[in-house]
Amino acid sequence: MLDRQGREIHYLRMSVTDRCNLRCRYCMSEEGVNWLPKQELLSDEQFARLARLLAGLGVDKVRLTGGEPLLRQGLDRLVGMLRDIDGLHTLALTTNGVLLEEQLPALVKAGLNEVNVSLDTLDRTQYAKIARRDALPQALAGLRAAVETPGLVVKVNCVPIGENDEQLVPLASLAEGGGVTVRFIELMPLGLGASLQRRTERQVLERLEAAYGPARPAEESGRAGPARYVTFPGFKGKVGFISALSHRFCSGCNRVRLTAAGFLKTCLQYEKGIDLKPLLNAGAQDADIFAAIQEAIWEKPQGHHFGTPPAGGDERRNMNEIGG
Ligand code: GTP
Ligand code: 5AD
Ligand code: SF4
Repeated sequence: MLDRQGREIHYLRMSVTDRCNLRCRYCMSEEGVNWLPKQELLSDEQFARLARLLAGLGVDKVRLTGGEPLLRQGLDRLVGMLRDIDGLHTLALTTNGVLLEEQLPALVKAGLNEVNVSLDTLDRTQYAKIARRDALPQALAGLRAAVETPGLVVKVNCVPIGENDEQLVPLASLAEGGGVTVRFIELMPLGLGASLQRRTERQVLERLEAAYGPARPAEESGRAGPARYVTFPGFKGKVGFISALSHRFCSGCNRVRLTAAGFLKTCLQYEKGIDLKPLLNAGAQDADIFAAIQEAIWEKPQGHHFGTPPAGGDERRNMNEIGG
């Protein structure tokens, strides 16, 4: 469906848990995280029902996020339920990869099409500092399993935060052979991200061009998302940039988010949206939930105001509760 600005909303990001097995510094605090009580999480049936209603409004792609989505018990069951919904052509997952090797076969069998693996460095000691867990070997095993799965579209996400400067070139080299797309995400000043150092797209690109030669634009496959892609001489694969600050993309925004507790968020930076859980719990009819979703999407904010002083209604949740 279209929102008030005429943007077509066809992509749902669904956070299936707020828990995580890592503690990436830009996303979560080391200690004192208050997890949602288990009974607050939507059930598979509730997620599938809301996805079906949103598919009725034109959503054709669902991405499962977290926290770390693979910590949710039986995620393959939910994937299978989403696969059965008419109109959902693409089922995607964003994961840190740590539990991926073990779970991937069941997820692919259930109908998963795409996997994005978060990986900020290939250096084990640095990984343990950024993610605060010594889990690089497991994350790499998960990434390898994904790349070796025929037909699965695989991307790597890296957030450049200064201390991984020397790792940007090695990470980009994963795209050389063409099996995986590597994306660099400008750190967004949301939650804990506000207190860390950010590298801009330009700074990252300068490093990559010094190593690989001039970048040239690459074709985007599928419907446009926030990422813009380039490739380098000798590369079979693509390198992407998601630059919410230096290359704002709100005017083409195509997505809404559902938190693990059932809040439909219409923009990453604002609390705005609608809490669907009370409707679900009160036994509301599909038509009523449908109308509530339509109204919230219509009112989707025009865009973020990262880099300017707080305005009313800014998001106070951390990224692990939103799913990125
Ligand atoms: P593809 O469907 O593979 O293009 O993935 P994606 O970029 O939609 O999803 P992913 O979960 O891999 O997110 C990558 C980064 O983009 C994360 O840091 C997200 O927070 C960020 N991101 C995704 N969607 C938006 C958005 O609408 N606005 C902003 N500001 N950032 C976004
Ligand atoms: N800014 C940009 N990206 C972030 N992510 C988490 N927090 C931030 C932030 N503040 C990324 C993770 C993951 C994706 C879902 O969001 O690295 O790849
Ligand atoms: Fe869309 Fe909001 Fe992200 Fe801008 S900040 S791209 S409007 S979700």
